[in-house]
Amino acid sequence: MKILVINGPNLNMLGIREPDIYGKSTYNDLCEMIKTHAEKLGIEVELYQSNHEGDIVDKIQSAYGNTDGIVINPAAYTHTSVAILDALKAVAVPAVEVHISDVDSREDFRQISYVRLACIATISGHGFDGYIEAMDILMQRNES
Ligand code: DQA
Repeated sequence: MKILVINGPNLNMLGIREPDIYGKSTYNDLCEMIKTHAEKLGIEVELYQSNHEGDIVDKIQSAYGNTDGIVINPAAYTHTSVAILDALKAVAVPAVEVHISDVDSREDFRQISYVRLACIATISGHGFDGYIEAMDILMQRNES
């Protein structure tokens, strides 16, 4: 099984950006955690981060036919991007939406998620553990 983990804009700044909201651990710490969990599950994982909407669309398209699941934290593009929603629908690879913070208890503009419409589940407010939960959901789905 192969899972692609996509992180959107400003998530490369984890550890620096708003630590009261996103914590003090870095993007590199997140990657290490995901890689360790992938090893435990015995699956292949690809990690991708971009600050650019079109690059994220390209990456999702590249998953077509060779990836069994996508974990995606589109960050701010969650709340704006029909293009990312359409890309997820186009490839039809099972996807789980993750947010480190609890977006539903934050500003009104964060209550809208376009990508959610193309995802089998959403995990919000569980910190970095949300990525692990998302991988487990995709793994279970792949096995059933
Ligand atoms: C985020 C929540 C988004 O609203 C925000 O724009 C982010 C990160 C999260 O992981 O909590 O950049 O997706």
